[in-house]
Amino acid sequence: MIQRFTFGCPLPTESVVLPVEPAAAVPYLTAEPDGSWSFSLAEDAVVYGLGEMPRGINKRGWHYVTDNTDESRHGENRLSYYGAHNFLLIDGGAGRSVFGVFVDFPGKVFYDIGYTRHDRLTFRTEEPDYDLYILTGDSPNAVCTEFRKLIGHSYIPPKWAFGFAQSRWGYKTAEDVRAIARQYRENELPLDMICLDIDYMQGYADFTVNKERFPDLAALSAELKQQGIRLVPIIDAGVRIDPEDPTCTEGLEKGYFCTKADGTPFVAAVWPGKAYFADFLRPEVRDWFGHRYKVLTDCGIEGFWNDMNEPALFYSPERLRAFLDSMAQLRGQDNIEQEEFFGKVVGGAMGLMNSPADYASFYHDLAGQQVRHDRVHNLYGGSMTRAAGEAFADLRPGRRTLLYSRSSIIGSHRYGGIWLGDNHSSWEQLLANIQMMPSVQMCGFLYTGADLCGFAGDTTPDLALRWLEFGLFTPLMRNHAGAGTREQEYFRFADQLPALREMLRLRYAMLPYLYSEFMKSALENTGYFRPLGFDWPADPEAREVQDQLLLGDGVMLAPVYTQNAAGRHVYLPEPMQLYRLRSAEDYDTEALPAGHHYVHCALNEVLLFVRPGHAVPLAKPAACTAALDEQPIALLACPDADGHAAYRMYTDDGETMDPEHDGHWTVLDASH
Ligand code: GLC
Repeated sequence: MIQRFTFGCPLPTESVVLPVEPAAAVPYLTAEPDGSWSFSLAEDAVVYGLGEMPRGINKRGWHYVTDNTDESRHGENRLSYYGAHNFLLIDGGAGRSVFGVFVDFPGKVFYDIGYTRHDRLTFRTEEPDYDLYILTGDSPNAVCTEFRKLIGHSYIPPKWAFGFAQSRWGYKTAEDVRAIARQYRENELPLDMICLDIDYMQGYADFTVNKERFPDLAALSAELKQQGIRLVPIIDAGVRIDPEDPTCTEGLEKGYFCTKADGTPFVAAVWPGKAYFADFLRPEVRDWFGHRYKVLTDCGIEGFWNDMNEPALFYSPERLRAFLDSMAQLRGQDNIEQEEFFGKVVGGAMGLMNSPADYASFYHDLAGQQVRHDRVHNLYGGSMTRAAGEAFADLRPGRRTLLYSRSSIIGSHRYGGIWLGDNHSSWEQLLANIQMMPSVQMCGFLYTGADLCGFAGDTTPDLALRWLEFGLFTPLMRNHAGAGTREQEYFRFADQLPALREMLRLRYAMLPYLYSEFMKSALENTGYFRPLGFDWPADPEAREVQDQLLLGDGVMLAPVYTQNAAGRHVYLPEPMQLYRLRSAEDYDTEALPAGHHYVHCALNEVLLFVRPGHAVPLAKPAACTAALDEQPIALLACPDADGHAAYRMYTDDGETMDPEHDGHWTVLDASH
């Protein structure tokens, strides 16, 4: 059941698609005098949700703020990342209710989940105008399905987007890109996509191509597509200020950029230097900006990533000037007090970036109302995704287009996926990736993944391999690196190359399963990745697990995420069949009883646990999705007590916009 409660006069977010009549009294939660809501947490209560946020699958023991932020220092002490995912699922504990809470609000929401007091959850919105939804159901899975019905079906990418993507901020020329493709193919490493970071543009201006470095993008795109590889260029939120640039001049002419209080366009610097920011909250601006992608779809481009759309702001000219003036006062000094050094010099410089004062200095037009940006901040990135997604329906009618974004809000999951931003090359971030996946997917963002190997800092070959052994299960599977970091294309790691190759090939062998499970969760509003506590809410040990995931109907994963480990502890809520895979063709298997196990897992192995009654089809690995024959060559089965094991496999052409109608279901029987 879904209940809606409206407070004040909420601004429209369009996060919800299902009409819900307003209800009278809010169940479960207590209204506090300060405008917050509270809930008493029993000792064994678990709080799931909040999507893209730090900490474990159980969010208890920390505080969080939904405030979309270009956060480059990922780690457990952060309060906000790039997305606004205000959905909590509270499993009250033994004998208590399970319910969901969705706070539909475009500004900041503050959560204290057992941070001040272990037995208390509170949350509040920055302003008193919002919609609150309470969702109930028999189980965590049932509540999540209700929520997904409320917010509408998730975005579905083309099937080739389930192949592997190689990316790096540093591919500067068409030759660089060709060399990556060549080395992947020469090393027999499967590949479906190469991402183009900002260097393909002319002066970092959206919808331009640097003609010296990429003389013929259409030809390059066609040449690579012959090899089964698609180019996926980046588009940034900030529009370069340049009188020669049509996006800039058209946007100015039509009055499509966000404005300051005096009505002049708001300016802040990002990669291109000074930039304007399209007011994506206006339908006509979305329509205009979305159709600008035509410059690239005309070159045969079929996929994009939208970036810097929190929006990230390096500095505004006003604040930069003020800072430089304050520095001028220090000229000639060579010994300043530490307070002045850290406060004025370091703090002053750092404070230029993503400054709250800048976010409070420009305006949007939201359904005819002039609204200050900070009040609707969290809508910005998702509205950019929506601009592209809506236009693709027109630019590429009847065909799916790949799209993922850095910033998001619940609602934008209908138009694109997300990647988890600028993580770093550390084991801790591999665990964070594992823990974030089910949280993000609960909020509708099914097509997601993190930068494999890590974005910032230098990776190591063993981290690259262990991360791939988890990444091969994530819908978006992309290796991406920051500028200046150690090169981390998989062919760079000679000693681990055979194992890396087999893991990439395993991804392709598993695609019939992974794609089917993705489509089931998209079409039926179920979970692709789920915490164990979702399927065994009455099992106290299952509820505690923070580092194992269910994947679709039939699989449990227990990735190794610590360095130099030759195995790990695994908890099985029910008996399962363990497949220890070194490749799609080379594996051993054993039946494990329910309970606690120490399971060995060498560096070149991945652990796949199949649940009773289920079977996982494996196809013959291929160099790219276009070359994949989905006919299973093997079924990794776990027969139930009656000897039954089967799989319901989904297939379609991978392109159609109407999968519900055009897809086929086949039952594969592995019973004995
Ligand atoms: C941002 C993105 C990152 C990209 C970089 C340069 O930091 O998150 O993925 O490589 O910008 O465009």
